[in-house]
Amino acid sequence: MSGIRTEAHGDVLELVFDRAEKKNAITDAMYGALADGIAAADADPALRVVLIRSEGDIFTAGNDLGDFAKADASAPKSDLPRNVTRFLRTIAAAEKPIVAAVQGAAVGVGTTMLLHCDYVVMAEGASLITPFVNLALVPEAASSLLLPARVGHPRAFAMFALGEPVPAKAALDWGLANQVVPLEEVTPAARAVAAKLAEKPLGALIATKKLMRDPAAALARMEVEGEVFARRLVSAEAKEAFAAFAERRKPDFRKFG
Ligand code: COA
Repeated sequence: MSGIRTEAHGDVLELVFDRAEKKNAITDAMYGALADGIAAADADPALRVVLIRSEGDIFTAGNDLGDFAKADASAPKSDLPRNVTRFLRTIAAAEKPIVAAVQGAAVGVGTTMLLHCDYVVMAEGASLITPFVNLALVPEAASSLLLPARVGHPRAFAMFALGEPVPAKAALDWGLANQVVPLEEVTPAARAVAAKLAEKPLGALIATKKLMRDPAAALARMEVEGEVFARRLVSAEAKEAFAAFAERRKPDFRKFG
């Protein structure tokens, strides 16, 4: 099992994070399943909407930090996990509407993927966390372009650089979410929106989404981010951050100057 459950509910395809014991941290196989699911929905005339949700008390803790820690500066580029790139490209270029139901924290790519979703329902108590700098990394998923455009530079910089949780209410006020509902209503509310969208003329929905988004710009930014990210991933600062997470201690970045 990949850690992603794919469930067809009528004409809505649900992609469910199902690795609750690891806080739904995303492995390469999980990125692969997410990419496959979104691509399958786009290709299948019987599917009209994608809904991304999670099991457990959290949306996702973001990329698996064990996988990040394994990054090797000497490995040939062709050895790098490919599914994350495939997932990011697929979600950025997806044609059909994507709804997300966020409970608990959405960390790292858990938040940046929401910038590529079209309707986001958050539970009260949920939060968005982008701790890229805390991990000695840089933003990905074209979020260095999309987040400042959405919330303004000051808020985006604070989210990336300080990595503090943005509570659901603020996410709503800042335009990162459409709705905040009690926890038990998050999946029903997201399903209700998905069902409403599924009733709409699909051709018009797809054309509207296409007019509103600029996948070419997002993909170009991802290329640039990807190069910086790959260098940061094998930096001494990042190795310290990953070791500190594994050892459940505070990282010491001062030793690197
Ligand atoms: N990668 C790999 N494993 C992760 C993980 C991640 N991103 N996030 C959590 N886990 C694992 C923990 O190692 C732990 O595993 P164990 O039970 O085998 O020790 C398990 O999931 C539970 O995590 P824990 O930290 O005990 O849960 P918590 O409720 O106290 O905290 C988080 C939840 C999400 C706040 C915390 O786990 C966290 O900060 N995770 C890292 C998030 C992150 O930096 N992601 C990368 C973004 S780029």
